[in-house]
Amino acid sequence: MAELRRITIFDTTLRDGEQSPGASMNLTEKLEIAQALCELGVDVIEAGFPIASPGDFEAVRLISQKIRGTTICGLARCNPQDIDRAWEALKAAEQPRIHVFLATSAIHREAKLRMTREQIIERAREGIRRAVGYCDDIEFSPEDAARTEHDFLCQVVEAAIDAGATTVNIPDTVGYALPAQMGETIAMLRERVPNIDRAVLSVHCHNDLGLAVANSLAAAENGAGQIECTINGIGERAGNAALEEVVMAIRTRGDQLQCSTGIETTRLVPTSRLVASVTGLQVQRNKAIVGRNAFAHEAGIHQAGMLRDCRTYEIMQPRDVGLGHSDLVLGKHSGRAALNDRAKALGFHLTGEQLQEVFEEFKTLADKKKQIYDGDILALIEKRLHEAIEAGWTLVSFDTACGTVRPPRARLTLRRGDREFTEEVAAGDGPIDAVFRVIETITDKQLRCKDFEARSATVGRDAQGEVTLEIEHEGIVCRGRGVSTDTVEATIRAILNAVNRIEAGLAQRQTAAEESVPTTP
Ligand code: KIV
Ligand code: ZN
Repeated sequence: MAELRRITIFDTTLRDGEQSPGASMNLTEKLEIAQALCELGVDVIEAGFPIASPGDFEAVRLISQKIRGTTICGLARCNPQDIDRAWEALKAAEQPRIHVFLATSAIHREAKLRMTREQIIERAREGIRRAVGYCDDIEFSPEDAARTEHDFLCQVVEAAIDAGATTVNIPDTVGYALPAQMGETIAMLRERVPNIDRAVLSVHCHNDLGLAVANSLAAAENGAGQIECTINGIGERAGNAALEEVVMAIRTRGDQLQCSTGIETTRLVPTSRLVASVTGLQVQRNKAIVGRNAFAHEAGIHQAGMLRDCRTYEIMQPRDVGLGHSDLVLGKHSGRAALNDRAKALGFHLTGEQLQEVFEEFKTLADKKKQIYDGDILALIEKRLHEAIEAGWTLVSFDTACGTVRPPRARLTLRRGDREFTEEVAAGDGPIDAVFRVIETITDKQLRCKDFEARSATVGRDAQGEVTLEIEHEGIVCRGRGVSTDTVEATIRAILNAVNRIEAGLAQRQTAAEESVPTTP
């Protein structure tokens, strides 16, 4: 069998993914995700847009210092300040890449940039040459390439390669392309651009029409050597191509696509869960590959077929993507070693201290709940990891009452640093509203709840409840997540998680105003 062409997987969860409304992450969370992406085996991690904010700069710098064995990339517009700043953040990386972008479509040239075609080509050349002065690995993206006239796109791509770009990325910035068109564009560039062999052709597809993965695969079929994607498909507006879908399509249909990736697919589900947990952007149940129902068989006919031979209704095995088979696992008498084994099977490598903390909570939970499922263990680990990285407000204790007779009441004690604050209200539409009011008073913030979702992490009446919500304060929208067997407690934890992110956002906004930095692309 002919050797399959190896596609470079470029992950932009930390850059384009973070542009999902409410998905901002703090420094420690970004580093944690970068580590997970490295273990997943992605070839390039786009760690951020260094000039966009001091937080972005720090994240790219820290990831460049700490992550080894993969390329770390930073985004820059096509101007000296952006490129210099990107390099400043990237220079400690083992394998740095500067990603320079400039819009090329008529609508962007005329309405946004007010530049002629010649000026665009000249600006692209200058930017790439400046980046080449810093490192050998340079990516150039003609933003909105999918809506750019073919003749002009060919000229830009040729000029970019001539100036030193080693990867040329073709973004479908607004998710407008259809699969056949995306494939044709890649084939056309390969045929018409004389120096195309000197660079890797890449694609970056947005999902506005739900076609990001299909478009990326069509590009790969037509010779693209790199696909840009994000975990769970998060990203600007409707998001980007989902990494797990791209990778599993290539693995499952390599026969047709004639290519492969270097991704360790058993890490897909753990990485997906980590990103969902950190961003608060939950994955829909029927989401391909990583959704809760992705491997669930409901119809009797399907179940009967599965029992005879799972290939009747399964084109991939759950374990290929990191889903364990057994669900009911541990109980009250299980020890630390059994818990550690289960954590490893779920994809988490806990340190001795983390294991001890999770084990203590596990014992408490086992006293409350008869049966401990994988979902429970995941929730405990994620909660521990969150709390370990969370700075700001934490819950000390709470007491609520509600009913149809008296107004709801909530009394909360919160900690910030080494100080504790207690407040009580007897008002509101219910216990959750009362809790919101107390938190508003203690934190001195007006909180607008824009989205609230409660679900159970496992099955049964005693299951742990998982609350995810979205809160707005002074124009900053952040998501938060909390887990507990008590839904009110899960809600309080989720609100505090969001408030802490909002406070980080307020601090960043303040620094940005002082330094006057640009907004993201
Ligand atoms: O969607 C887009 O065009 C981008 C570029 C910066 C690559 O994200
Ligand atoms: Zn994008």
